[in-house]
Amino acid sequence: MRGMPAPISGSSLPRILSGMQPTSDSLHIGNYLGALVNWVKLQDEAFETFYFVANLHALTVPTDPQVLRHRTRVTAAQFIAGGVDPARSSLFLQSDVAEHPELAWVCNCLTSYGQANRMTQFKDKVAKGQDPNVGLFTYPMLMAADILLYDAAYVPVGEDQRQHLEITRDIAERFNSRFGEGGLVVPEPYILKGSAKIMDLTEPTGKMSGTTSPDKGLLLLSDEDSRLRKKIMAAVTDTETEIRYAPDDKPGVSNLLVIHSVLSGTGLEQLERSYAGHGYGDLKKDVVELVVGTVAPFRRRMAELLADPA
Ligand code: AMP
Ligand code: TRP
Repeated sequence: MRGMPAPISGSSLPRILSGMQPTSDSLHIGNYLGALVNWVKLQDEAFETFYFVANLHALTVPTDPQVLRHRTRVTAAQFIAGGVDPARSSLFLQSDVAEHPELAWVCNCLTSYGQANRMTQFKDKVAKGQDPNVGLFTYPMLMAADILLYDAAYVPVGEDQRQHLEITRDIAERFNSRFGEGGLVVPEPYILKGSAKIMDLTEPTGKMSGTTSPDKGLLLLSDEDSRLRKKIMAAVTDTETEIRYAPDDKPGVSNLLVIHSVLSGTGLEQLERSYAGHGYGDLKKDVVELVVGTVAPFRRRMAELLADPA
């Protein structure tokens, strides 16, 4: 569907908007537990929800067009498989709405070079060796346009996107003072604090990331059961034997406990008690059961969706 998505109803509820970039072949369990689960929950609350695939943002990383098209489609299918309901949320592709880059131009012209140059995500990506195109530099102004176009009141994102929301607020305020009050809604960040941060299985001091983690460090929502099992059983732990939540001293074991806790709904302290006297192998086996129990139905639903071109 091209063009601006129509609101679901004549709703006057505050609007929630968020997006994810289709930068890998599948979302991972960190995207699911850290973001998607919250998006789905928000559909049941008193908000009008807008979710989209940020495929224009993905152009900041040079990608083969066929691959990007495939990833865009998979990401949309994964949103739906994860519970985003197109009957209750407006679900769309960023590239289908020409007003995003149109408003982004106005946002560019309302942003000083100095402020754009202070964006830490840009600096981090360049420091990590990404050869930046100009799009990577102006990425926050496209993100501002994504948000301001829909009068979004709240934008649920992870902590890493906080600075991009601040620049969005600045741009909205500048727009309103230059072009007239009451123009754009100044959005509030809705930083998902309580939500789980899932770490890389091979390097549990860093977050699980579709763009920087090795395959063995990622639990992909497209992985077969046997792959999930292999990766979890090989997850890095430590040379002790005690199962205890201590993210600084025992990042690997703590990560497995967090994954268990979020999926089983059991508190961390209760898990520590129930694993007293057990080894890491027992914990890993249980985590395999829980992850497979979540991912397998997800994978089946995704396959059904992808098999249907409509
Ligand atoms: P990204 O893949 O970094 O573009 O992130 C897409 C969404 O998933 C954002 O809302 C992130 O905050 C969230 N996310 C990404 N990686 C993780 C992780 N390892 N744990 C929890 N949430 C994550
Ligand atoms: N930059 C966000 C990320 O990498 C994705 C994104 C693009 C986004 N536009 C947005 C998120 C607008 C929220 C609102 O995670």
